[in-house]
Amino acid sequence: MCGVFGYVGKEDPLSVCLAGLEQLEYRGYDSTGIGGICKGEIVFCKKAGKLSLLKQGLDLPPLEIAIAHTRWATHGRVNDQNAHPHLDGSGAIAVVHNGIIENYDALREDLRKEGARFSSETDTEVIAHLISKHYQGDLVEALHKAIAWLKGIFALVVIHKNHPHELYAAARACPLSVGFNDERNEAMVSSDPNAFQRPRLNVLFLQSNEIARVSSSRIDVYDQRLKKISKKTERLEGNFQPPAKGGFEHYMIKEIYEQPITIQKSLFGRCNGEVQFEELPPYFLNKIKQVWFLGCGTSANAGRIAALLFEEIARIPAQCEIASEARYRTPLLTPETLVVAISQSGETADTLAAMREAKKYGCKTLAICNVKSSTLMRESDAGILLNAGPEISVCSTKAFTSQLAVLTLLTLYFAQLKKQISPKQLHSFLEHLRAIPAQIQQILDTASDLQKLAKKYADYEHFFFMGRRYMFPTACEAALKLKEISYVNANGYPAGELKHGPIALLNPRFPVVAFCANQQTEEKISSNLMEVKARGAPVLAIASEPQENIGSIADDLFRVPHTIDELSPFASVVAGQLLAYYIAKERGCDIDQPRNLAKSVTVE
Ligand code: M6R
Repeated sequence: MCGVFGYVGKEDPLSVCLAGLEQLEYRGYDSTGIGGICKGEIVFCKKAGKLSLLKQGLDLPPLEIAIAHTRWATHGRVNDQNAHPHLDGSGAIAVVHNGIIENYDALREDLRKEGARFSSETDTEVIAHLISKHYQGDLVEALHKAIAWLKGIFALVVIHKNHPHELYAAARACPLSVGFNDERNEAMVSSDPNAFQRPRLNVLFLQSNEIARVSSSRIDVYDQRLKKISKKTERLEGNFQPPAKGGFEHYMIKEIYEQPITIQKSLFGRCNGEVQFEELPPYFLNKIKQVWFLGCGTSANAGRIAALLFEEIARIPAQCEIASEARYRTPLLTPETLVVAISQSGETADTLAAMREAKKYGCKTLAICNVKSSTLMRESDAGILLNAGPEISVCSTKAFTSQLAVLTLLTLYFAQLKKQISPKQLHSFLEHLRAIPAQIQQILDTASDLQKLAKKYADYEHFFFMGRRYMFPTACEAALKLKEISYVNANGYPAGELKHGPIALLNPRFPVVAFCANQQTEEKISSNLMEVKARGAPVLAIASEPQENIGSIADDLFRVPHTIDELSPFASVVAGQLLAYYIAKERGCDIDQPRNLAKSVTVE
C-alpha cells in the first residue's frame, strides 16, 4: 500500500529517499515518485510501474531536501500523472500522501470554482491546492487550516520551495513516524519506521491531526489546536538488516521454510510447565466472559481457528469477525469482552478501526502482532508479539503459523485460568504442540511431492478447497494463498456445504482440494469426497498418516504427519502454502508482489 518517505540532512536526499523506497517496496505498489527542492524550485520525477523504472528515468539535479512515494492506486488509474508527488497550481508545494480523502470530490469542485486546475485524478492533489490556498508564509499554519477541511485518513509529507530545509508532516489515523539522530544532523519521515535503515534512531509517531515541522536539527510538533507539544520518543535500536532471500528464489518460499524456527520462537518462554505470557497479567483476563477475534485475510483465518479452540478448550464463547464488517455491526460487546486484534503488520486500517470501535464499548483489547512498533501494538491495552521476524512476501505464511502458535497458547492460558484443563491434559497438549515444528520440517522435506502435484494442477482455472471443523478455516487460508499469487479462482468451503449449491459448478475441469486431517469428521469428509468424485471433479486430498480410507477415494494424496485435531491446521496449511507457491511458479506469476495487492493495507 502507499508508502511515504522524506529526508533532510547532510547526505544526498535523493539516494536516501531511493533507499527508503526500496524498503517500502514490499508493501505492494503500482507507481513511484520523488520530488525535491533545487535552487529554490520544486523538481520531481514520477512513474507508473516498479521502482526500477523510476530509477532508469531519473534525471533530477542535486536536491537540498526530498520526499518520495510508492503509490497503491485508490483514486485514479495507474499512470504517471496520478503518481506522487502532487503539486499545487503554482508549483511551490509538493505533497506525498498515504490514506484516503473521502470528501475530495466536493473539495475539488470548490477549488475548481476558485480557479484551481488539476492535472491528476487523485484525492491527493486536492491537498496540495488546499495548502496553497491557506499559505501566507507559515506552512504549519497552512497545513493546519488545510487538514481541517479533510474528511478521511492521511499521512502527509509536504515541502515548499520557500522552506528548502524543512519537511512538514501531518497524520490522522494513518501511521507516520519521524526519525532523527542528533549526532548525525539528519531527520526522516516515513509511514514505516523500518524504512529508516539507521541504527540508534529516536522515533516519534504522529497521530490525531498532529503536525510536525522537521529540519535536520530540530523537530517541532503541534497538536490539533496548533499548540506546540512534546512527544514521547522511542529508540529504534536498528540491528537493521536489509531483507535478503538467503539463497531462496522468492521471499515467500524462504518464509515458508523458516516456519519450524519461527513457530519455536513464538512458543519460546511461553510454555514451560504451564503456559505463561508475561505480557498478560491475570487480572487483565479475570472477568472476561467472551472473546471477539478481529482480523483481515490470513489473520482472520487464524482468528477463526482460535474461536474454535477457545470454545472447545477454554469453554469461553468466542467468535471471529472480519474487521471491515465488525465495525458496522451493532455488536453485543461489554467491558467483559476481550477483543483480540490479530495482524501481522499491525497497520491494517480495518483492524485498527474495528479495535478502536470496540474500545468505545469498554472492551479490553489485546493485539497479536508481528511488528513491535506498529500502531496496533501501541493502541491496544496489551500486546503479544509473534517474534516471526520481518515477513516480506505479500503472501502471508510464517505469520499465520506463528499466529496459530500464539493463539493456541492463549487458549491454553485461558483454560488454565478458568480451570478447564487439568495439568495432565495440559502437559499432553503441550507435548503435541512442541512436536509441530518437526512435523512441519517433515513436510518441507517432502516439498518435491507437492511440486509434482502442482505441475499436474497448475493449468486449472477454478478450485474448491474444502474441509470440516479445524480444516474449514485451514482450507480457506490455503485457497487464499492460491488465489492471491496464482490468480486462479480458489474458494474455501465447509465440505458439507458444497451440496447446498456450489457442487453445481463441479466438472472434470474443476478440481477439489480436500483438507481431511480432522479425525473427528473423517467419515463425513469421506462421503463428501465421494459426492465430488461422482461429479467427475479431480480430487487432491491432504490427509494425515492414519487416514487410509481417504487415499482410496482421492485421485491424488499428500500425507501430513498425524497430530490431535486442534493442531491439525499447522501441517495442512504448510502443505497448502507449498502447493500455492509451486502452482504460481508453474504459471510464471510475480510471487512476492502479486498484482493489485499490498502487504500493509492502510486504507479501509
Ligand atoms: O497485516 P495483517 O495481518 O493485518 O494483514 C491482513 C491481510 O491484509 C493479509 O493477511 C492478506 O490477506 C495477505 N496478503 C494474505 O496472504
